[in-house]
Amino acid sequence: MTLAVYPGSFDPLTNGHVDIILRGARLFDRIVVAILKNAEKAPLFTMAERVDIIRSVFKEQPNVEVDTFDGLLVDFVAKRNAQVIVRGLRAVSDFEYEFQMALMNQRLNDRIQTIFMTPAEQYTYISSRLIKEVFALGGRVHGLVPDMVEARLREKVG
Ligand SMILES: Nc1ncnc2c1ncn2[C@@H]1O[C@H](COP(=O)(O)OP(=O)(O)OP(=O)(O)O)[C@@H](O)[C@H]1O
Ligand SMILES: [Mg+2]
Repeated sequence: MTLAVYPGSFDPLTNGHVDIILRGARLFDRIVVAILKNAEKAPLFTMAERVDIIRSVFKEQPNVEVDTFDGLLVDFVAKRNAQVIVRGLRAVSDFEYEFQMALMNQRLNDRIQTIFMTPAEQYTYISSRLIKEVFALGGRVHGLVPDMVEARLREKVG
């Protein structure tokens, strides 16, 4: 049984994340979406809200699970008895940081393998930060985030 962990802040979940999670769910027996606590000092969505959103979006996918963690990612992955860390690559700009993290995590625990996945082309430019920025300025984010996220953004940001 291959268990994968997909870590991130997911503030909020975007259709880019959804795409990667669905690809992971097809490739691995189980994928744990692991939300990092205290990643940002002032997140837009609380931890409970982010957990709730991801659980709702994937309620029909029995092999997608949501968990939270802090501290070293490799410690969380080992604790969960997972073998794989999934990361998404959108552009060359993601590569340098992701490569550095993957090598450090490999040094910290060589039994855990980082796997990079690319999303469908139409999602390659989406980030949570950009979604929040565009939405706050009155821009349309329909189709870039799950409907539930769009609704929650409207409640929160107006
Ligand atoms: N549109 C996307 N396509 C593919 N991978 C993505 C996409 N957005 C994020 N990822 C990947 O998902 C993982 C978690 O990322 P994270 O939670 O930082 O999302 P983010 O959209 O980059 O948010 P932020 O803008 O706050 O950094 C990272 O591996 C990131 O590269
Ligand atoms: Mg990011």
